[in-house]
Amino acid sequence: MKKISFDYGQTERFVSAPEIEKLFPEAEAALKSLYDGSCKGADFLGWLDLPDRITEAELKEIEQAAKSLRERTQVVVIIGIGGSYLGSKAVIEALSDSFHNYDPAGMKIIFAGQNIGEDYYYELEKYLQDKEFGICVISKSGTTTEPAIAFRILKELLEKKVGRTAACERIVAITDARKGALRTLADREGYKTFVIPDNVGGRFSVLTPVGLLPVALAGFDIRSLVRGAAEMSQECLENSKNAAIRYAAARTALHRKGYTVELLANFHPKLHYITEWWKQLYGESEGKEHKGIFPAGVDFTTDLHSMGQYIQQGPRFMMETVISVAKPDHTVPIPADADDLDKLNFLAGRRVDEVNKMAELGTRIAHVDGGVPNMKITLPELSEASIGQLFYFFELACGISGCMSDINPFDQPGVEDYKNNMFALLEKPGYEEATQAIKSKF
Ligand code: PA5
Repeated sequence: MKKISFDYGQTERFVSAPEIEKLFPEAEAALKSLYDGSCKGADFLGWLDLPDRITEAELKEIEQAAKSLRERTQVVVIIGIGGSYLGSKAVIEALSDSFHNYDPAGMKIIFAGQNIGEDYYYELEKYLQDKEFGICVISKSGTTTEPAIAFRILKELLEKKVGRTAACERIVAITDARKGALRTLADREGYKTFVIPDNVGGRFSVLTPVGLLPVALAGFDIRSLVRGAAEMSQECLENSKNAAIRYAAARTALHRKGYTVELLANFHPKLHYITEWWKQLYGESEGKEHKGIFPAGVDFTTDLHSMGQYIQQGPRFMMETVISVAKPDHTVPIPADADDLDKLNFLAGRRVDEVNKMAELGTRIAHVDGGVPNMKITLPELSEASIGQLFYFFELACGISGCMSDINPFDQPGVEDYKNNMFALLEKPGYEEATQAIKSKF
């Protein structure tokens, strides 16, 4: 299997290699605390051995459920928010054709429940009206407002279209084994269900059915995705100076020197949602107790024409991690032009990717010169196997970084605050006191 790699060579002017290496023992101790379960939040370490623990029978069951839903439908709506959709969305976007989000069999995957946009739901209902569609509803708690509203709307639409019995055969629910409204409903209606293990938090759940079923529905190879993750897991177990240790140590060293924002910068338009997944993973895991690196994302070269100026010359508090894909899938040469008005004939016959790679190198040099330390992750190609490696690498480095900051990387108490205010404002039964209090404030 071709391997992904990590390099912090371009941080030297900001934090020296010996300064980073000095943190290796701390990072290794953090990793050990994950492996032996002595870290904070140890109840949520189920993701650590997921790639090795998943069985042939589980993979087959997921593939079978995907096949059965694909046979009955043209479109499947994945309903979920946060960790319940970003991982699968990232894989599907990375591997799909840019202009046809469907596989050769004509299957289309779309997402809902990740917002509360009324127009979004109006347009979605209109779009689905004349389609044979199915639903894959994902919620670990089974009570999250955004996916619950989306599921109400789409379940009603589906039942009206095909009747309650046929609708049941087109709905798959992924949720807790025992508790939550979605579990109760799924059991009552007899939906096909998959379980999110108790000890795996939402943002670490991409290698459970949460990520694997939508990816299989989209026609991609979940076995390669899992194999990629297993390969990275094995490498990290065997090598004490593994990529996750080095990344965690380098970003922590920079953070301790005052670099409080990390920009994840991709140079491939299909990686936008990998960045979104990473932002959730690091933001929810590290941002607590008034600590944590702020994770931000940019798509290059697109955002060089919007955010590039700020990155180059704004206040100096950013580190940058570039994700580069070594080899594109296709070859597109730049044509010659008889008039050469744009003076680009010197590029004629050369590949678009050569320009992209020089833009990448030029950007890295410029940003380092401008005071932005630079790290780089290279994917050999965009494939299930390399994305599997990348997922596990980021998850492990996130756990290590969180432990090095002495926080619990696996909870997210802060996300409850907006929900409580929203319910108080919506006058949810049981929130009467909070309703009074919040209304007096605004
Ligand atoms: O990482 C997390 O746990 C959260 O971001 C959840 O994934 C997100 O809030 C969705 O929760 P649920 O799957 O319970 O609907």
